[in-house]
Amino acid sequence: MITGILKEYGTENRVAMLPGEAATLKKLGIEIIVESHAGENAFATDEEYKSAGAVPSSRKDVFSKASLLLSVNPVPEDDLNLCREGQVLCSVLNPVDNKKWLEKARSLGLTVLALDLIPRITRAQSMDVLSSMDTVSGYKAVLHAASLLPRFFPMFMSAAGTIKPSRVLVLGAGVAGLQAVAIARKLGAVIEVFDVRSAVKEEVKSLGGKFIEVEGAKEDAAAGGYAVEQTEEFKKKQMELIQQRALAADVVIATAQIPGKKAPVLLLKETVNAMKSGSVIIDLAASTGGNCELTENGKTVVINGITIIGKSDYPSEMSTDASKMFGNNIINLLKILVDRDGNLALNMQDEIINGTTAVHAGEYVSLRVRQMLNIK
Ligand code: NAI
Repeated sequence: MITGILKEYGTENRVAMLPGEAATLKKLGIEIIVESHAGENAFATDEEYKSAGAVPSSRKDVFSKASLLLSVNPVPEDDLNLCREGQVLCSVLNPVDNKKWLEKARSLGLTVLALDLIPRITRAQSMDVLSSMDTVSGYKAVLHAASLLPRFFPMFMSAAGTIKPSRVLVLGAGVAGLQAVAIARKLGAVIEVFDVRSAVKEEVKSLGGKFIEVEGAKEDAAAGGYAVEQTEEFKKKQMELIQQRALAADVVIATAQIPGKKAPVLLLKETVNAMKSGSVIIDLAASTGGNCELTENGKTVVINGITIIGKSDYPSEMSTDASKMFGNNIINLLKILVDRDGNLALNMQDEIINGTTAVHAGEYVSLRVRQMLNIK
């Protein structure tokens, strides 16, 4: 099989696979063709791809020669016209935002593997691009906040007096939130954390954060480890406590999300207005509405000396390691997708393959996609 690595477009700096990972893929018996300059924003040259055994080519050639096309984001809709029936596209999909795109891919008889649909089960952990990218986001969010804060993160005892450590409030202790706790702790901050899933309490503690428990959280084992919508009573109790803790915080890292829904609003306008001047809020839930009422997606807003950053593209800013993790996740997925001769063999009985396949042979396959898009 020939696999094609495509160049991204727009402001995206990542590439689906760097030369190092391409070399690993070759060892699985897969030929690789790479669009010229695909890796340049992740600091990988065509020469490096060539040394790894990949063949740099034009975009047109990648589309015409490869059976499997890899990209970080879905290819532009017009490029679907360059595809042929049976060809396989593999990228992050965001099905709800790309409903029309997906319908076109289905009607053209393409197979679409959506990396954001990989089931969150133990066997699929090494393939989980959402976790990898959230790891990058949690890390970068803390460093960004620390660089903007007019204060130290750690406690300082110096001849010029003692400086108290900064206080960091983390909303949502999923992959990004836990990474934020770990990094903020390494930098010496005092950390408080809110989440609705009690399972994360011990993890937060072991990373050196303080978990603030709000009684009465609703959890659902069927939600696959994700949070679910909370009762009005819980929301009220949680809201009061969060506003209280936010007033003491120097930094808020907001990451709370509920899959397929608008992000919960956890930080009110009035609270932000009453926070310490100079504080920094980084809202990683910005693309789904934000956890802070004043967040604007993709923008930095300064109100009363408080900086609110609505950010969802940290992985693109850390393009080298984000691409490395992305490529490794794809390799781990391909290990269960290809046979011994390096050809694709999609066994739809496999929970991971079935769950990740958005469309195949003219049909919507993944149950989650059908649920998200209301397809019977
Ligand atoms: P996410 O990005 O959907 O949400 C981030 C966090 O916000 C979650 O911890 C969620 O509980 C929390 N949250 C949602 N609503 C909230 C509210 N109203 N107040 C406070 N917190 C709220 O979640 P993420 O990071 O994608 O992962 C969630 C969980 O999924 C993980 O902790 C893990 O259990 C599971 N997971 C499993 C994987 C696997 O087994 N392959 C891979 C990655 C995650």
